[in-house]
Amino acid sequence: MPARYLVTSALPYANGPIHFGHLAGAYLNADIFVRYKRLTGAEVLFVCGTDEHGAPILVNAEKEGAHPRDYTDRWHQAIKTSFERVDIAFDHFSRTSRPVHHELTQHFFRRLVERGAITTRVDDQVYCETCKRELPDRFVTGTCPRCGFDAARGDECPRCAAAFDATELKDPRCKTCGAKASKRPSKHWYLDLPALRPELEAWLEGRFPGWKPNVVGEVKKYLADLKPRPITRDLQWGVPVPLEEAKDRVFYVWFDAPIGYISSTREWAAQQGKPADEWERWWKDPGTQLVHFIGKDNIAFHAVIFPSMLLGQREGYVLPDVPANEFLNLEGQKFSTSGGWFIAIDDFVDRFPADTLRWTLTRSAPETRDSDFTYKDFQTRVNAELLGTFGNFASRVLKFVQARYQGAVPAAQADPGEPERRALEALRAGVAAAAAELDRYSTRGAAEKVLEVGYAANKLIEERQPFKLINTDPAAAATTINVAVRLLEGLAVLLFPFVPGTATRLWAQLGLEGDPTRRRWQDAAEPADPAGRAIGALDQHLFQRVEDKTVEAEVARLRAGAAPAPTKAEAPPAAEAGKPTIPFEAFAALDLRVAKVVSAEAVPKADKLLRLELELAGGERRTVLSGIRAWYAPEALVGRQVVYLANLEPKKIRGVVSQGMVLAANDVGDVAVLLQPERAVPDGARVS
Ligand code: MF3
Ligand code: ZN
Repeated sequence: MPARYLVTSALPYANGPIHFGHLAGAYLNADIFVRYKRLTGAEVLFVCGTDEHGAPILVNAEKEGAHPRDYTDRWHQAIKTSFERVDIAFDHFSRTSRPVHHELTQHFFRRLVERGAITTRVDDQVYCETCKRELPDRFVTGTCPRCGFDAARGDECPRCAAAFDATELKDPRCKTCGAKASKRPSKHWYLDLPALRPELEAWLEGRFPGWKPNVVGEVKKYLADLKPRPITRDLQWGVPVPLEEAKDRVFYVWFDAPIGYISSTREWAAQQGKPADEWERWWKDPGTQLVHFIGKDNIAFHAVIFPSMLLGQREGYVLPDVPANEFLNLEGQKFSTSGGWFIAIDDFVDRFPADTLRWTLTRSAPETRDSDFTYKDFQTRVNAELLGTFGNFASRVLKFVQARYQGAVPAAQADPGEPERRALEALRAGVAAAAAELDRYSTRGAAEKVLEVGYAANKLIEERQPFKLINTDPAAAATTINVAVRLLEGLAVLLFPFVPGTATRLWAQLGLEGDPTRRRWQDAAEPADPAGRAIGALDQHLFQRVEDKTVEAEVARLRAGAAPAPTKAEAPPAAEAGKPTIPFEAFAALDLRVAKVVSAEAVPKADKLLRLELELAGGERRTVLSGIRAWYAPEALVGRQVVYLANLEPKKIRGVVSQGMVLAANDVGDVAVLLQPERAVPDGARVS
């Protein structure tokens, strides 16, 4: 079994927040696997980064009037922070916009050309004269060539479900500017997958037996219809194609993105001051097991296309295992960032400990079929499992040590009884069983095994009742407690990959140094005799109960937020409390004013928004949109003064240009409360 693991999680697009669905699909399981493998003593590297190219990013940046560089900068930072807040411990989190990545992508292309695995073709493309660019499928609309529906998409008709090529649309139009589109012949480059097929299939045959049926099924389907894949686009944002005749072309985002795993490794090695060939030890030494954690929509890219690109390099690259997960739903519905049907990670961990989220998502991970996150389930997992099984066991045992043994673990009798032997055996079995699950990438299965150890530990206490036993047979009670403390140490190690923060706190309560990574996973099966060791402070609960009313409030919040929230869904979640300090000039740059609301009305088809007309000094009027409709009747606002940020860059929302923003405080439950001067002042008065 290889003792070196290179673990990757799908590079998230720098194009929106990451939510629970992402976490459960490709990040949390990878992090757990990595922590586990490190505990076994394996050498592990865990790399990721943001996927920053592709037309959708360009389009969304344009919509905001932002340069794609600034737009991706922001999302990169927001996504990185979200991962940190749930303790996803990448060794390196890079970006595909970095020069090292561009160079490596171009190198990959050149090697594939040398190898004869790149072909070209001239085809008609849909072209917009106004935007001066070829339009990828999703930027074209038109009349369906089959049924005549006039709002067909570039690749299929939502009415008759016909699939076609964008060039077959009648009356094609540019989605971006609305202009009539034309066709023009254009040359594109293709990855010749059929040319790489023999090597690819020889490798896959050997891997299929170890892979999940969902992955094998997808791959076989893809192989049955293996075609050259276009890898170039007529865009200005991406990795430039290194050919004179393709000056205006970049690589298709899916060509460059997976190479990001390698560039992230190279960047990591350089930043660590490692030797120049360090990254090759990870990517080209057959002793490395490469593992791509991904969601099911990414299977073909990771199990067929990227491996073909690696094989095509002829540089001895290692090839991956691909544990792909299915999808996670939220309260029975698909996640939708634009529809507001998601829980922002930062928002959630503001209110609940990250470990409660990690545990819940692991217990219901969509490993073999789609699964569901519900607050009710979250409550059960926290109350019955984390608190009821692990937390209670720990606190009963440790408080007892504190109260009855002056805080030092009592010694066991030489020969513990049958219940103690059974509990220790359950720990040993749990260590092996959880390892077996993790070795086949099932974090959900492993969590179940760890929970079973928790049940066995509780059973020991139920059977022995040491709190009573101490009065009749103190030596036997001491033995039970001594064994219980050993079980706790074993559990802390087993729990560490899943709930690292809590396991570390438990470690301190046990009076142990550092954190559970001081042990090897295997050692968890046989903890040393703790007799005489002073336990640590017990002032912190390991877990807090989740009350019914909390669950109700959270579900209500989710439903309230589900209406489209244009500004919120598009902007990265603001850093809470701890925003970095800014110089006074940054504050002085804000043009804050008092303004009077002269009219207010609902915005059609936007159930969160009110359109306000504001009056400043000298009768100057401004229009702003504000997401306060749920809390203010329009009539009630007319005549009121508000605090207004006047020099915010104007933004078009629902066809209305919003010139700035009115300020509100966020009350509990995300209720917006408008700010107002404490007494009337002239309209237009400065706020400073
Ligand atoms: N950004 C892609 C997605 O979110 C995943 C890219 S994975 C990589 O679906 F391998 F291409 F990096
Ligand atoms: Zn156009």
